Amino acid sequence: MKTLVILISGRGSNMRALLEAELPVDRIIVISSNPNAEGLKTAADKGVQTACINRQTFSDRLAFDTALSDEIDRYRPDLITLAGFMRILTDDFVFRYHRRLMNIHPSLLPSFTGLHTHRRALHDGVKIHGCTVHFVTPELDHGPIVIQAAVPVFSNDTEKSLAERVLVQEHRIYPQAVRWFLQGRIKLSANTVTITDTCVHNSVIYSPELQK
Ligand code: GRF
Repeated sequence: MKTLVILISGRGSNMRALLEAELPVDRIIVISSNPNAEGLKTAADKGVQTACINRQTFSDRLAFDTALSDEIDRYRPDLITLAGFMRILTDDFVFRYHRRLMNIHPSLLPSFTGLHTHRRALHDGVKIHGCTVHFVTPELDHGPIVIQAAVPVFSNDTEKSLAERVLVQEHRIYPQAVRWFLQGRIKLSANTVTITDTCVHNSVIYSPELQK
């Protein structure tokens, strides 16, 4: 019996992508840190079990993380996925779920860790941007990388248009990473992830395109 826990705080579009991916899993539980998260309603409408550990009702991060891990442990999940979960977790929490805690981040890590990734990418004038699924380690947005998707940055991009282009790819790579994990195809050694029986194309992305 395979169990997946998805942690959310808001919109929940990555959660939706995971729920709609027909993953090889027997049970999914969505836990929100925010009782008003749009994603909670989406999950409930799909008949998925939900719970809420309201961050506002805890005086500090440790108390919140303890309550959250008590809730998570009730389900004995194989994997815990952060999907727009807007809380920084304590080291103890991260160690507790070592090698089975994943996150999606809207940049090509290790560039643009933290917040406002699209705004900062535009500010810095990068020509290629993207998203990353990685295992979570105590250092924010720094764990072993499972998969990345790259998109071009256009000269007329706004923060919104760039975020939308990246989000389409987030919804593709997160279910893929979770599927690999549940299939037992992820080998993790030190800081490197290898996926068994997969291929890498020797293709190059130019942004902008080469011209004569
Ligand atoms: C996504 O861009 C994700 O990469 C980041 O927060 C956003 C959450 O969006 N961690 P959603 O709640 O999944 O729609």
